[in-house]
Order: sequence, then structure tokens, then C-alpha cells
Amino acid sequence: MRGEIRKQIRIFVTLFMVLVLCMLVLCMCVVSFNHKERTLYYSAANAEEDNANKHCAVTIKPRGGSTDTWIKRIARVKEDGTQLEVQYAGIIYDIMVVNQTELRITDWTLKIPVPQDSFLNNAWCGTLEIHQYQQHDELVQTLDLRKCIEEEVEIILEHEVAGTDLMIPVNQGDYFIYHPSIRDKEDVIEASDLESEEYQNKRVDFIAYHETVNEDMTPVEFPNAVLSYHLHKDITQLPIFYVLISLFGWWCISVVVTVIVNVKTRRLIERARRDADIIEQSMSAFMGFIDAKDTTTNGHSMRVAQYARKLAWKIGFSQEECDRVYYISLMHDCGKIGIPDAILNKPDKLTAEEFEVIKTHTLQGNRILENFTSIEGIREGALYHHERYDGQGYPKGLKGEEIPLIARIICIADSFDVMNSERCYQHKMTKEDIIDQLQSNKGKQFDPKLVDSFLEMLADKTIEF
Ligand SMILES: [Fe+2]
Repeated sequence: MRGEIRKQIRIFVTLFMVLVLCMLVLCMCVVSFNHKERTLYYSAANAEEDNANKHCAVTIKPRGGSTDTWIKRIARVKEDGTQLEVQYAGIIYDIMVVNQTELRITDWTLKIPVPQDSFLNNAWCGTLEIHQYQQHDELVQTLDLRKCIEEEVEIILEHEVAGTDLMIPVNQGDYFIYHPSIRDKEDVIEASDLESEEYQNKRVDFIAYHETVNEDMTPVEFPNAVLSYHLHKDITQLPIFYVLISLFGWWCISVVVTVIVNVKTRRLIERARRDADIIEQSMSAFMGFIDAKDTTTNGHSMRVAQYARKLAWKIGFSQEECDRVYYISLMHDCGKIGIPDAILNKPDKLTAEEFEVIKTHTLQGNRILENFTSIEGIREGALYHHERYDGQGYPKGLKGEEIPLIARIICIADSFDVMNSERCYQHKMTKEDIIDQLQSNKGKQFDPKLVDSFLEMLADKTIEF
């Protein structure tokens, strides 16, 4: 029982560790997936193709309405050193990033190269990391253009202030990176529902001024951009996660059921052991009455029961069947309780009539045990243990395998104990004589196969003289 429990514990611990390992591997895969930086190259000329079948789609378009365009005149220094007032038109550019997956898009930024000399003026919902090249030097600063003037931020980039507006000149070859505002969670685009085609997106804007000679200028196009982003997968989006959770649930249920079954089994085993003790002690007490009555055969029933149990084990009975053989054998002579003491304890040779009375102990045993149904075969053991294999026994004169096996087993064990015991009317026989008697009665009094097994046990001292 303890070995079985240890084996079950080992199995459960192993299963638990396998499940934990699988869960760890799954977590690591998800973390690795989420940490991978991904890139989308946007080209205005090829936008449709670039955006197709990708995780995201990017568009950068000038808004172009008259209310979204402003004119500014800014003084510029010409190459010959003279100043010139140049007219610039400011245009709002809308950036749209569309999530085309069922996963969240996080940590995204958009790198936008400047196509022609311009001024950056403003940007919403984020900051601009501006890379400005000045005679082989690269100036870099990240600014929230909405707050620079108001908060008097120190600006290291080349810049100009036109009224209340900050104007940062950027030339062809410069670039800026749009960083969505993390505080406002603009760097997260929620998962889209592909089935219903409800795509989640983020729209952000910036204002750039371009040189113009009239107010109806054609907007400058920002033809290229590079979107960097991460896909975020929740572990709960993976079917394997639910498989593992289900297996863990089954594991928990199995542990609980096994514990309950083990506790109940243990109680049943203890109860069965107690019941077996009660049966054995009751039978021993009853055999004590018989032994007290038949003083010539003291301890006979107990010894016969032990020999019979060993013989049953020898011929392949299970432990449970051997115990049954033991109890049946213990009661085989219980009918002697009904034999008069004068006959049972007579020191002299019995008369034919007295022997007939003795023979009735088998029938009386059968009657006593008539209602003893909890041990199968107990009545047959008492009734037939004096039958002989050749059919010359009593009370029925059964022959060969007509005699129940339990009775044939008791017959040998009973006879061996009689020959091997000192009695008032008979001396204990020598080992050689006992073996000779068993051999010569094979097929006569005893079942020949059982005799062979019994002799083997005498030879290997399983049963001792
Ligand atoms: Fe007997």
C-alpha cells in the first residue's frame, strides 16, 4: 500500500513538473514574440501594396483644406548675405496607422525622412525626435512642439520664433521620428476584429511649412516612412494555454480523487483486517472448546489449518484464497462437539459401533455450519474431509475429483498431523514412515497431485516434522 502511494506521488509530481515546464515554455515563447521589434517600410507611391497582408497599414496625407493651411513670411539669409522675406504655407499632415491583426500593436514609432527644405511647426499626441544636419554635424533633440514656447524649453536645434510659433528648419536628408504619447497610451493600438472588419487605428498629425509663391500651393508629399512596432500577444489568446489549464484542472481533480480513494481504501483495509482478526479469534475460541473436549488431539485443528494453508499456497492459491482455506480447515472437526466424551477420549481401541458414532462428526459439522455462509466451502470442508480419493471414505463415498478440492487438501493435512502427533492410542510415526504412508496412499486415500506438492514442502522444510 505504501509502495503504491509512493508510486502515485511520484507520478503526480512528475506530471505537475511537466505541466509547469510546458507553461514556462509557453510564457517564454509569448515574451519572445512580444519583444520582437518589427518594421514596416511605407512608400507613398506603393502604399497599397506595402500595406497589404501586413500587420499594419500606414498612410501620410496632407489634409489640404483651406482652413488647415496658413501663410507665414519668414526672413531668410541668402548665400550673398542679404536678407530676403520668403513666403511659407503651413499644412496639416494626417498620419494614420491601422492595426490589421487580432493582436495589440504596442511601442510604435514612425521615422519620416524630409523630402524638401521645410519648417516643422507642430505635432499632436506625441513628440518629435528631430535629426537636423548642419554642415556635417547632426543635432538631435526630442521636443513636444506644443509646449516648447510655453514652457521655455532650451532648444539646441537651429530654430526661429515667428510670433508665438516655433519654426524648426529641416532640409532634405534630415528626418524626424514621431513618438506617440505614452501617457495617453497612444503607443498602443487595440486588436482589430477581422471577422467584422472593424479595424482599430491611431491618427496623429503634424504641421510642416513649405516655401510657396502663392496660397494655393500643391502640398508636399512625404513619400517614405518606416514604422517600427511590436505585436503584443496575451497568453490567453493561445488555445494551448487552455489545454494546459484544463490538464492542470484534471491534475488537481485526480490528486483529490486519489487522496480520497487512498484514505477510503486504507479504512477498508483496516476494517477488513479487524474483521479477519475477529473471525480468526472467534474460530480459535470455538476450536478451544473442541480441543478442551478432545484432550487427545490438543492443537490439532490449528496445525491442520496451517498445513492446509501452506499446501494451498503451494498449488497456486491467492493470498485471499489461502486465508479462506485456513479458516475452513480450522473448523473441519467442529462436529466433534456433538460426540460423547466417553467415545472421543476413550484410550482403548474403539468398537465398530463407537467408530460409527465418531464418523458422524462430519455430518454434525455439516449441520453446525449449515448457516455459516460468509466463508464459501466451510460446510464442504467439515463434511468431506474423511472422503478418500479411491471412493472408500465417508460419509458419502465420493471419489476422485468429485470430492471438493478443499476437502482433499484438509484430508492430507489432517492425516499428516495425526501421523506426526503423539496420541494416547498411537505413537508418533517416524519421518520415513510418514513419507512412506503418503507415497503409498497416492491415489488411494489422497489426491496424487496434492501428495506430490505436500512431499515437496516436507523436502524443502516448508512444513517441518
Ligand atoms: Fe475429522
